[in-house]
Amino acid sequence: MKRVKTGIKGLDSLIGGGFLEGHSVLVCGAPGTGKTIFGLQFLYKGITESNENGLYVNVEDNIPKLKFYASEFGWNLDKLQNEKKIDFLEIPIDRMGFKIVDAVADKAAEINAKRIVIDSLSALSINAKRFDLPLRDQPDPTGTIGGKILHTAGYIPFEDTQQFTYLFIYRVSDLGATTLFLTDTPPSSEILTKDGVSEFVCDGVVYLQLHDTSKNVNRTLSVKKMRGSEIVPGMNSLKFTKKGLEVGEFKAFY
Ligand SMILES: Nc1ncnc2c1ncn2[C@@H]1O[C@H](COP(=O)(O)OP(=O)(O)O)[C@@H](O)[C@H]1O
Ligand SMILES: [Mg+2]
Repeated sequence: MKRVKTGIKGLDSLIGGGFLEGHSVLVCGAPGTGKTIFGLQFLYKGITESNENGLYVNVEDNIPKLKFYASEFGWNLDKLQNEKKIDFLEIPIDRMGFKIVDAVADKAAEINAKRIVIDSLSALSINAKRFDLPLRDQPDPTGTIGGKILHTAGYIPFEDTQQFTYLFIYRVSDLGATTLFLTDTPPSSEILTKDGVSEFVCDGVVYLQLHDTSKNVNRTLSVKKMRGSEIVPGMNSLKFTKKGLEVGEFKAFY
């Protein structure tokens, strides 16, 4: 398998050279830990340094806000969008029956996206009941296709958040792009996610933390899991620079 550069300075060397192409990576952390910037940087650098187009699937921040945050680091997303190198998919949460995986697949295909960011899994799972996901190997519900088993026939609305999360990660990963699933971790807890399933379904887990002290706020990044890669364990400093997020030298083990 090929490795793709993460675009986050200092991270590739912690995970054996980069993400494995097509992997699904969970980026978890409490609100304000830098997940959205991480996701934007992964796409921006993917386009400008690795020639891989990217799709940003957003629920929480709207597109003008995302573009503004990016502009603070000198990343001009309007230009890249005009060149059809980046695109955004805003997920409606105010209607029932949205076929979310189809929508992601269609939008990704339009720009031949090799990278996808889902911001955020936690916001989607709260609204799990609103979405329909195509299930594999369902008999055609109308019975009109000669009794053949269809790949994506049969939609069911999701009642269960964990099942939605599991299946959503599974189906989006199936699209073949290298995908970051951003998710909110409950503040000050030992657990990585509210749903309790995404950390084992995803191929990798990157954990962002904020450590408040009386003098300043320190950010850290830890690689918790990366299938197929030798990882460097421990907490590494994570800093905002004028060019984006950067993983630093500091290390603490826990
Ligand atoms: N241009 C910037 N320069 C310095 N810090 C920034 C910048 N943009 C965002 N931040 C910091 O990152 C935090 C939010 O990052 P964000 O990626 O939106 O977090 P999350 O998605 O995890 O909630 C802000 O609270 C701020 O501290
Ligand atoms: Mg965010």
